[in-house]
Amino acid sequence: MKNKILVVGSINMDMVVKTAHIPQPGETMLGGVFFMNPGGKGANQAVSVARLGGHAAFIGKIGDDLFGKQSTRLFEQEGIDITGICSDPGTPSGIAMITVDAAGENSIVVAPGANARLQPNDVAAALDKQPDGKILLVQLEIPMETVKYAAEYAREKGLLVILNPAPANDRVAALLPLADIITPNESEAALLSGVQIKDLAGARQAAEQIAARGVKSVIITLGSQGAALLHNGAFLHIPAPLVEAVDTTAAGDVFNGALATALAEGKSLEDAVVFACNAAAIAVTRLGAQSSIPYRNEVPFNIIS
Ligand code: RIB
Repeated sequence: MKNKILVVGSINMDMVVKTAHIPQPGETMLGGVFFMNPGGKGANQAVSVARLGGHAAFIGKIGDDLFGKQSTRLFEQEGIDITGICSDPGTPSGIAMITVDAAGENSIVVAPGANARLQPNDVAAALDKQPDGKILLVQLEIPMETVKYAAEYAREKGLLVILNPAPANDRVAALLPLADIITPNESEAALLSGVQIKDLAGARQAAEQIAARGVKSVIITLGSQGAALLHNGAFLHIPAPLVEAVDTTAAGDVFNGALATALAEGKSLEDAVVFACNAAAIAVTRLGAQSSIPYRNEVPFNIIS
């Protein structure tokens, strides 16, 4: 059965420090606990798919080092197909330095390492081995030409293409016609549309601008406010459950993994967004990236249609 979710993206080791606030330029401050935890937007999305009950294959690049090996081993334990992971012996695996403040907001710097060396031919070789692909899920922590190649390949094979345009990148506009669904957060949507999102009217205007550039469905994630969906010209706001945020790291990744999982099961786009909001709301109540990703039995699937 063709139900696999092919995640093409980054794999990092996250170095996280809790602080009272995000440091200002030039400021040195004493923080709280430090912990390491596997991350990377692509990897987080693949783990989300696997924990939420989907079939995930991950396509990415690691260095020939301990972090790369650890991340791959964890993928295997999650039941993720790792045949598409290749390694570059001359480059370290990607890492991210993350500060999380008292309100759960974060600031992230990524050293991409091997992620920056994921080439179109690596992706071609990996995708050729995935005849059961139904959905391609891709983000922007790998080279843009590789993202473009993956999206073009997936479209040609008739896969649904979900583009998570994170982190924001001013070259993403060229990719819009290749995406069936795009999932920016507020700042990414503002960059793509030129509309500052202050309320739902702004989210609708931004979504309409983005849709006009060639994407069928636009989903803008709105943090604690849930998500805004523009599909077939209809605009819908889906609120998120009210929770106390501890760490928002990877909430967007959990949203995307959950969305893809529900769509692969044949759920409607609206129901998939509700599921994704519910899954992401659980993730923000926990520290870290992959350490925060919920399992299927924890996430309510309250259907709205
Ligand atoms: O989206 C969160 C992720 O962004 C972190 O896990 C970090 O590795 C960066 O890629």
